[in-house]
Amino acid sequence: MTANPDLSAIIGRDDVNDYDAILAVTNTSVDEVEHRVRADSDAIFTWDYSRSRPALVKLYEKAKTSQWNANDLPWDIEVDQEEVARNNMNQNGIDESMDLSDTPFAKWGDKEWLEFRMESQNWTLSQFMHGEQGALMCTAQIVETVPWIDAKYYAATQVMDEARHVEVFARYLDTKLNGAYPVNAHLKMLLDDIIADNRWDMTYLGMQIMVEGLALAAFGFLHTMTTEPLLKKLLRYVMSDEARHVAFGVLSLQEYYAELNAAEIRERQEFAYEAAVRMRDRFMQQETWERMGVDVKEAVKAMQQAPERALFQSMLFSKIVPNCKKLGLIDAGDGWLRERFTELGVIGFEDWTDTAEEYALLDEVAKDKEASAS
Ligand SMILES: [Fe+2]
Ligand SMILES: [Fe+2]
Repeated sequence: MTANPDLSAIIGRDDVNDYDAILAVTNTSVDEVEHRVRADSDAIFTWDYSRSRPALVKLYEKAKTSQWNANDLPWDIEVDQEEVARNNMNQNGIDESMDLSDTPFAKWGDKEWLEFRMESQNWTLSQFMHGEQGALMCTAQIVETVPWIDAKYYAATQVMDEARHVEVFARYLDTKLNGAYPVNAHLKMLLDDIIADNRWDMTYLGMQIMVEGLALAAFGFLHTMTTEPLLKKLLRYVMSDEARHVAFGVLSLQEYYAELNAAEIRERQEFAYEAAVRMRDRFMQQETWERMGVDVKEAVKAMQQAPERALFQSMLFSKIVPNCKKLGLIDAGDGWLRERFTELGVIGFEDWTDTAEEYALLDEVAKDKEASAS
């Protein structure tokens, strides 16, 4: 790819596929217990209590009746981590069926592949957990910063949802798996940027549209793939909530973006792109390769050659791209974001279903409640 100096100010490198630059970003504070981020956004009271946003009212009512208790999941199921890893994982696309003779995996046997699948699973669920904490903090921030009462009400329900999500992933990692990972550096950088931004709609764009849009796709992928019944149920319940969260972003930003000028929309396009790149970078999974003791750059290069890799990587954007389109971000101005999403190989999702209404269909919790009441 040719270098594009415009990108350097947004993502810190002028070639989106510069692996040296991507892998140079690492988490240097893996032992820290606290991580502080300065947020200087205004907390906004509103004295207008009128219920003037019917779509948000409907979403809020849905959220109140679709609450669930993490303790009610079947935690007594015994999880055989090795067996699950054997059945679950090949989301990296790389496995022993490829020709790996010139790669760090040339000498790997069954033992290493199994270990890798287990590490990969630990890594994936750990990053889900850290991302959920990001969502918890962002949504608490939205309660303060969004100027609309209906949005404050709804965001308050999401705070509870996200606490539950952190709780379930942390509990699963602690009691069913073995070997959680610290937060990935690219994910951390993105969460920090979202929290530090003082414009309230940027919290929504970064979290509800980008991070949660990706999470909804990634949870869906793992939910389909896993044979482990506790994880399957847990993911399905989290997805029921997550679809509402993405809808909250789409419904709120649709209204707000209609008031913004071209320069302001361009800033949103750039922020969406930055978030997309950070999330793609995180899926290089550099910490797993490190822990497996292989050369990280060589491993990432081999992984990019895996036949299913491009498909898996692009599927993560299957919710983000149609939602960005619904918000008018793809073609605004000179279609800058369309060009970027085309380079990333994800523009093909633009006409997939957006998430503004999909949440009702995905609400498994409501279905289970109805079934147990009848
Ligand atoms: Fe969540
Ligand atoms: Fe969420």
